[in-house]
Amino acid sequence: MEEKKKRDGFGSKIGIIAAAAGSAIGLGNIYRFPCELGNNGGAAFLLVYLAVVIFLGIPVMLSELVIGRHSQSNAVGAFKKLAPKTAWPIVGYMGVLCGFLIFAFYSTVSGWTLEYIVKAVSNSFSGKDLATIEQDFSDFHNMGWRNVIWQAVFILLTGFVVFKGVQNGIEKYAKILMPLLLVILIVLGVRSMTLPGAKAGLSFLFNPDFSKITGKVLVSALGQGFFSLSLGMGVLITYGSYVKKSDNLTSTAFSVVLADTMIALLAGIVIFPAAFSFGVRPTAGMGLVFNTIPMLFNQMAGGYVFCIIFFVLLAIAALTSTISLLEVVVAYITEQLHVKRQLATVIACAATMFLGVFASLSLMENTPFIIAGKTVFDAMDFISSNVMLPLGGMLIVIFMGWRLGKTKFFEEVTNEGKLKSPLKAIIFFIIRYLAPLAIAVVFINGLIK
Ligand code: PFF
Repeated sequence: MEEKKKRDGFGSKIGIIAAAAGSAIGLGNIYRFPCELGNNGGAAFLLVYLAVVIFLGIPVMLSELVIGRHSQSNAVGAFKKLAPKTAWPIVGYMGVLCGFLIFAFYSTVSGWTLEYIVKAVSNSFSGKDLATIEQDFSDFHNMGWRNVIWQAVFILLTGFVVFKGVQNGIEKYAKILMPLLLVILIVLGVRSMTLPGAKAGLSFLFNPDFSKITGKVLVSALGQGFFSLSLGMGVLITYGSYVKKSDNLTSTAFSVVLADTMIALLAGIVIFPAAFSFGVRPTAGMGLVFNTIPMLFNQMAGGYVFCIIFFVLLAIAALTSTISLLEVVVAYITEQLHVKRQLATVIACAATMFLGVFASLSLMENTPFIIAGKTVFDAMDFISSNVMLPLGGMLIVIFMGWRLGKTKFFEEVTNEGKLKSPLKAIIFFIIRYLAPLAIAVVFINGLIK
């Protein structure tokens, strides 16, 4: 009960922006975004993605922040408080479950960033051609337990930060390091664009072929938008509950969406020109980023040092995201099940580790861990990102628009009349009508196909 009364909180405005941006910016931007874009026809995907982020991302994010701050509770508790004796808490439970699922496969890729830090430090890319770098990457997947060990290390790292609580943990780490990532991506982007043959990559990224926009592309862009912004599973309900009453929620949502989208775009500008220049196929999936980046550093003055810095920052970006995934689960266990924070962290990490092993081992050749023709890794990714997050997001905007309602929304975004919020009426209109409809159409269309 004690935890219930004394809630942690973010110390400053930059605290909430940094923590929410820390959650949003991660492997989703630098690894998943280029993969999805490459597999879904390039620039056409980018256009749909930008529409998703602007027209759905901002309203859903703001809804989550409002629900969180208004209820002062975790993803499940928020719905219990604001809609007692209804089925609404199911949205929260789905979020907690989704947090688990995402953490389980996300930690696999997070583990790779650690392996790649070691590779970078031991200078093991230097002088190698693409074929060798690709071979090394697939050899690494086939060492299943090596993947699992790195994954475990990463889960422990995440647990360590969450263990220490919100104020000392999340805020401190996120504040300093994300801007550094931006700088290194800009440097890489410049190098990538000046490689021979880079133009074809830029054209793939920015020259849309509208005939490529299919139902699958819409579903993928929707899923990627929610995944990248950490929406639809209560991360921002949980974080919103730590935000001070005097903070401006609308500007927080805009800043986070802007920062996240900038990093994803930059990642595209880094990856595609270089991939086209080296001959990595845009549909190469996992290898697209993990093979192209070392090749790019091989072409750069000071590549050895930059490569180390890059993978360290990538690991940290992943860490600030896994912290938020774990935080949703831990906040739920602590507040709803009245378990001490430390014990809750240990339980959540152990459960994730168990699930995560299957995700990691499913990427080996001849793996037995296949579900409906997909690796466990891909199945977890598909169900959580393309199904659960959009569904959660849709229910969250419906809750905001129809259950909590306009008066409460306006109260929260204006801090009870103290702030001007010129866009509040438009945003609420989107929350109430457009967002649920748009998500439903894309979603149902995708499911039917
Ligand atoms: N947004 C993170 C990324 O782009 O890497 C991943 C993520 C974190 C997804 C938290 C969902 C979430 F709730």
